[in-house]
Amino acid sequence: MDDSPHQPVLYKEIIHALQPHTGGRYVDGTLGAGGHARGIMEASAPDGQLLGLDVDPQALAIARRNLAPYEHRIHLAQASYTSLSTQLARLGWGAVDGIVLDLGASSMQFDTPERGFSFLHDAPLDMRFGPHALQTAADLVNKYSERELADLIYQYGEERESRKIARAIVRARPIQTTRELVAAIEAVSPRRGERVHPATRTFQALRIAVNEELTSIEEVLPQAVTALKPGGRLAVISFHSLEDRIVKDFFREHSKDRVNPPYEQIYEEERKATLKEVNRKPIVPSDEETQNNPRARSAKLRIAEKT
Ligand SMILES: C[S@@+](CC[C@H](N)C(=O)[O-])C[C@H]1O[C@@H](n2cnc3c(N)ncnc32)[C@H](O)[C@@H]1O
Repeated sequence: MDDSPHQPVLYKEIIHALQPHTGGRYVDGTLGAGGHARGIMEASAPDGQLLGLDVDPQALAIARRNLAPYEHRIHLAQASYTSLSTQLARLGWGAVDGIVLDLGASSMQFDTPERGFSFLHDAPLDMRFGPHALQTAADLVNKYSERELADLIYQYGEERESRKIARAIVRARPIQTTRELVAAIEAVSPRRGERVHPATRTFQALRIAVNEELTSIEEVLPQAVTALKPGGRLAVISFHSLEDRIVKDFFREHSKDRVNPPYEQIYEEERKATLKEVNRKPIVPSDEETQNNPRARSAKLRIAEKT
């Protein structure tokens, strides 16, 4: 695994968004190689502190090495960001100044063939971010009914040919490797010189399902709002429209006062806005960044401040 500290996506923008300061407390819920975390530590020197979480033990080991110079100011845990409240309670941290979530898989995970994230390499069809995930992609592909697979590929992959692909997968079972899955997809959805490989959307769908990515985002956002101090900021980088929509809708919803609940929601209490959107439109990487790192192309950063 390449563990050189890459410049992470939207690095400068994340540091600018969180404005880390001396004595501040920060959370990186998706530590990866620790690139954003390093920036936070530098900007909050000499005594800012960071809680870093990742479900991937390999990522955590690499981050620990990359963040060694700040060892006395960081707390790392192999845990999901969905356990944010518990992790903060464990540290005895009341409220924090900033939280970053850089969603999805890391370059290190994509570039490690045996993790099974990439359709460009033959490997066991795994796709788990960490050992906490209950099922691998192979489990889903071999156990789900044709209908369940079609729904999953349609919903999480936004794949128009989901039915055809689901049928081909069921016909090709058992499927244990990335290459077998790609062959099944290509048999019904051949490459036509398009920029996007025909397996892209199915791989995305399986990864989201295996790691319960969308429900995890839904779970962490309210915890993040509770965890922030007034004026504290939450910065979220998403990589596809399904993730971005959840973040956008949550930010919009919580930036509104709800003084007169509509009558269908009579049980809803009157509520003051808890967030203020810092940017109405998402921040995207510069042309220079996408040229140097094509994976940054689809990144979108949304920032909200606790009121
Ligand atoms: C895009 S990478 C983050 C890269 C990081 N910002 C950096 O500077 O190197 C996303 C990381 O989030 C981790 N991850 C995904 N889902 C998670 C979850 N529910 N809880 C904690 N970490 C998660 C992945 O294992 C991966 O290492």
